[in-house]
Amino acid sequence: MNSNAIRQSQIMRPCSRGLQLRYKSTKPVLDKKRALPPLSPRTRDFLARLIRVDQAGELGADLIYSGQHAVFKRTKPDLAPLIAHMWEQEVHHHKTFNELQATHRVRPSVFSPLWNVAAYGLGVGTALLGKEAAMACTLAVETVIGGHYNNQLRELLEMIELEAKQAEDGQTSDELRKLAKLISQFRDDELEHLDTAVENDAEKARPYMLLTETIKGGCRAAVWTAERF
Ligand SMILES: [Fe+2]
Ligand SMILES: [Fe+2]
Repeated sequence: MNSNAIRQSQIMRPCSRGLQLRYKSTKPVLDKKRALPPLSPRTRDFLARLIRVDQAGELGADLIYSGQHAVFKRTKPDLAPLIAHMWEQEVHHHKTFNELQATHRVRPSVFSPLWNVAAYGLGVGTALLGKEAAMACTLAVETVIGGHYNNQLRELLEMIELEAKQAEDGQTSDELRKLAKLISQFRDDELEHLDTAVENDAEKARPYMLLTETIKGGCRAAVWTAERF
């Protein structure tokens, strides 16, 4: 799926003010000392899963570009600024989810150390193979992550609608609407990276299918495990 196909599956419904929710009838189950909003247990579980997997994914993306940049600044200095630009955006995504993880007291994925080594190795390894392989890596990763963010956005908007229906005053929490906006922005950044990869000969990498499908499989496995463990 290319970035246009992913964009066409975007959720177009805006998060309107009419969807705000105060959760008047939902008891906060959490300890008052914890800095968590008074969300329903179902919503909190959803948010914890979302933040855990996205923090792990953005850390991985940070490390992939870090590995690619470490190689390209020596082997292809002309390509390094482009990699640095995408890396900077991933650092911002990573920091944002670190902050959300701290605010919501979400534990990190237990597999993070393993995936971190794999991510840095993937960055270094594809960069050593050359520009096309590095861009094919970006294409594969951003295809999976763009689709992943779209799925989360869909779930978030469904949750906002559900919470609004259940609330006496039809309002939803700021927390969910802010998160939907954030994920929409990050999804657009990832699709911009995908476009950059295509424009920089990702599809000329050889063996293209083997490389991209293997990396996509690894990304899906990382997402699956980080959501659950
Ligand atoms: Fe990212
Ligand atoms: Fe990205």
